[in-house]
Amino acid sequence: MSQDQYKSALVTGASSGIGEAIVRQLSAKGLEVHAVARRTDKLEALAAETGCKTYGVDLLDTDAIYDTLSKIEVDVLVNNAGLGLGMDGLPTSERGDIDTTVDTNVKAVMHLTRAMLPGMMARKHGHIINISSVAGLYPIKASIYGATKGAIHLFSQNLRIEIQGSKVRVTEICPARVGTDFFRVAFGEARAKDPVKGFKALTPDDIAEAVVFAVDKPQRVNISLIEVCPTEQIIGGVGIVETD
Ligand SMILES: NC(=O)c1ccc[n+]([C@@H]2O[C@H](COP(=O)([O-])OP(=O)(O)OC[C@H]3O[C@@H](n4cnc5c(N)ncnc54)[C@H](OP(=O)(O)O)[C@@H]3O)[C@@H](O)[C@H]2O)c1
Repeated sequence: MSQDQYKSALVTGASSGIGEAIVRQLSAKGLEVHAVARRTDKLEALAAETGCKTYGVDLLDTDAIYDTLSKIEVDVLVNNAGLGLGMDGLPTSERGDIDTTVDTNVKAVMHLTRAMLPGMMARKHGHIINISSVAGLYPIKASIYGATKGAIHLFSQNLRIEIQGSKVRVTEICPARVGTDFFRVAFGEARAKDPVKGFKALTPDDIAEAVVFAVDKPQRVNISLIEVCPTEQIIGGVGIVETD
């Protein structure tokens, strides 16, 4: 069980959706959980429920990562915070969509991992869990978001080679559609429900269970990649648009 192996975890993007569910499930297993996000009111409500410690940190503030979060010693780091902007495609995206999506989904993950990994390696004990996406594995017609998650896919794979022998584990979890605020952030209130309408989307708990599955494995086992799809969401096929 994870509480025997790991005592503590830091979860980013804990104020909502998948991150919130991960905090609940890791707390329920007895880990001391450090919960990170910008919306402190949501974090405080989660703390009242689970006993997690809260950190109102904007992950785009790289100094805050090194000055505040790097001081926390944990066994498990869950890089979950993320968002998708410019999801209707690069041609119609705003200029800032590229910067915000890359900075949040890629640069913040690299900085926070860089800040926490050396301690884990020195202790020969730790686990990095990156919440990526099927968008990082397959084309899904969202080039900015897909590029960031593709980067996390190879970041995770490369990291395992770099830290081989350290006993630190790296797991990438690639969800398909999960019913969360992700789509409100991506498409706005009016279209927030469209992407999860008409089929049973995954729940945040479905992904949190995958996290628990990976951390619960005995030390000799590294769950490298888990892909989780709704039964009714199929990825792939060839799209054709008729032209004149
Ligand atoms: N929902 C899906 O279908 C789906 C599918 C595949 C992968 N994912 C991935 O799953 C992860 C979690 O997404 P979700 O679906 O749970 O969406 P969500 O409900 O919108 O949660 C996103 C979380 O990220 C945090 N966050 C965003 N920018 C941040 C920043 N600059 N600093 C600190 N925290 C920040 C948000 O907190 P604050 O706003 O309070 O800061 C929030 O807690 C993301 O990496 C997403 O790409 C989601």
